[in-house]
Amino acid sequence: MAQPPTVRTSDNQLLCCKSIDKLIAEADEPGHRLKKTLGPWSLTALGIGAIIGSGIFVLTGTAAAGEHFAAPSILHAQVLDLISNFLRTGGTAGALMHGRPAAGPSIAISFLLVAVACSFAGLCYAELASMIPIAGSAYTYSYATLGEIFAWIIGWDLILEYVVSNVAVAVGFSGYAKAQLAAFGINLPSAWASPVWASGHWTGAYFNVPGFLIVFILTLLLVRGVKESAGANNIMVMIKIGAILTFLVVGGMLVNKANWTPFAPSGFAGIVTGGAIVFFTYIGFDSVSTAAEECKTPQRDLPFGIIASLIICTILYVGVAIVLLGMMKYTTFVSGEAAEAPVAYALKYLGAHPFFRSVIVVGALTGMISSLLVFQYGQARIWYAMSRDGLLPKLFSAVHPRFKTPYWSTWIACFAVGIPAGLVDIGDAADLSNIGTLFAFVLVSLGVILLRRRQPDRPRAFRVPFVPWFPLVSVLLCGGLMTGLTVITWLRFVIWLALGLAIYIFYSRHHSEFAKAKN
Ligand code: ALA
Repeated sequence: MAQPPTVRTSDNQLLCCKSIDKLIAEADEPGHRLKKTLGPWSLTALGIGAIIGSGIFVLTGTAAAGEHFAAPSILHAQVLDLISNFLRTGGTAGALMHGRPAAGPSIAISFLLVAVACSFAGLCYAELASMIPIAGSAYTYSYATLGEIFAWIIGWDLILEYVVSNVAVAVGFSGYAKAQLAAFGINLPSAWASPVWASGHWTGAYFNVPGFLIVFILTLLLVRGVKESAGANNIMVMIKIGAILTFLVVGGMLVNKANWTPFAPSGFAGIVTGGAIVFFTYIGFDSVSTAAEECKTPQRDLPFGIIASLIICTILYVGVAIVLLGMMKYTTFVSGEAAEAPVAYALKYLGAHPFFRSVIVVGALTGMISSLLVFQYGQARIWYAMSRDGLLPKLFSAVHPRFKTPYWSTWIACFAVGIPAGLVDIGDAADLSNIGTLFAFVLVSLGVILLRRRQPDRPRAFRVPFVPWFPLVSVLLCGGLMTGLTVITWLRFVIWLALGLAIYIFYSRHHSEFAKAKN
C-alpha cells in the first residue's frame, strides 16, 4: 500500500499529530507487518490473563487492613486527605500522616468503585482502539490526538504500567513459588531466592533467581510467536478462574458473618484509599488494545474483549473480597504471612483441606504467569510502535525474520523486568504502577473528546455513549483515584516524568519523523 507522506499538523513539533491513515498504512509495510491471529475470545482471555495477577491474592488483605508507620511523615499522607484538610482548615496538620486508613470488608465496595472507573476508561479505550487498530495502545492514540510530546509522555508513562507492575508480579511469583516448593519439601536457598534490597536495606541475598527465571522463560515463548503464546494463555486463564471459583466455594463455607462488622471501619476515606490500592488488580484490561494489529477483526473484537474481561474479573474480585473478609477479621491481614498471602493464610488458619489449598496456590501462580505474559507482550509492542515513529532507536521495531515478532523489544523487556525483579522487593511498585496507569487513562479519555471534535466523520466501529460526559466521568473517577495515593508516590511519578522529558529533549525530539519532515 502506498504510504501517505508525513504532514506536519502544527508549526510546533511538540503538538504535531500523526495522521491515522498514515498510522494504518505504516503498520501494513511488509517489514513491519505482524501476524493477525487473534479473535474475540482470545482477546478476552488476553485481558483476563493480564488482569488477574498477584493483586487479588496479595492486595485485598493489605488494603482491607490499612497501613501504619511508626513515624509520621507527610510523604505517607494521602493527597486527597491533604486537599480536604486544606479546604476545611487552611492547613494540612489534620491529615493522617501515619499511613493509610483500613477499608475493612468495604474493600468489596472499593472493587466495585474501581470497576466503574475502569469501565468508563475501558469504553474510551475501546473507541480509540476500534478506530486506530494499531499496536501501541494509549501511546498511539495520543500521538494521533494530542501531539508528539503527549505521545512521548504517555509512552514513557506506560513503562510504569507494564514494566514496574511486572517487576512486582515477578517478585510475588517468586515468593509464592518458594512457599509452594517448600510445601513439597524443596527448600530454595534464601540467598538465591529473595530480594537483595528490601524495606530500605540490604538483605544479604545475591539474586532472586525465580523472579528472573520466570520472565526469561516467558520471553522465549513470546519471541516464538503470539499464536503459541495466546494458546498457552487461554489454558492458564481457565486454570486460574477455576482456582478462584474453588476458593469461593471452599472459603465460602468457612465464613463467619460476624467478621463483616464493622463493614466500613474508616468510612468513605477507607473505601477510596482501598480503591487506589486495589486499582492495581484491574491493570491489564487496556493491554487488549495493544494487540490491535494482531487481531482478525479489531473493529468488532476489541471493544468486546475489553468490556468482557472487565465484567468477568469484577464478579470474581468482589466475590473474593466478600468471602476473604468474611473468613477472617480484616485486622488479621495487617502484617506477616497474613499480609503476604492472605488467601492462602486464611485457608490454612481455618483448616481447609491441603488439596484445596494447593489448588488455590497453584492457581495463583498460574494467574501471575499469565499476567506476566500479557504485560511482557504489551510492553514490547509499545516500544515497537515508539521506535517506528523514531522516538526510540530502530532496534526496538526490528521484527524477527521467521517468527514475525518484535524480538529485540521483547528481549529488552525481559531484562528490564527480570533484573530488577531479581534485586528488589518493590512494596511501592503497585502504587507507582497505579499512578502511571491512571494518568494514561485520563489522557486517553481526553483524547476521545478531542478526536470527536477534530475528526467527527472518521468511522468508529465502537462509539462511547454521551460524549463528552462519559469520558469526563472517566477523567474525574481516575483523577479521584490518583488522589487516593500518597505524596511519596506522586513525587516518584513526577521524577519519572522529568527523566522521560530529558530523554525526549536530548534524543527523541531529534529523531522523530516530524523532526525529519521539518525541511
Ligand atoms: N492486575 C495485575 C495484578 O493484579 C497487574 O497482578
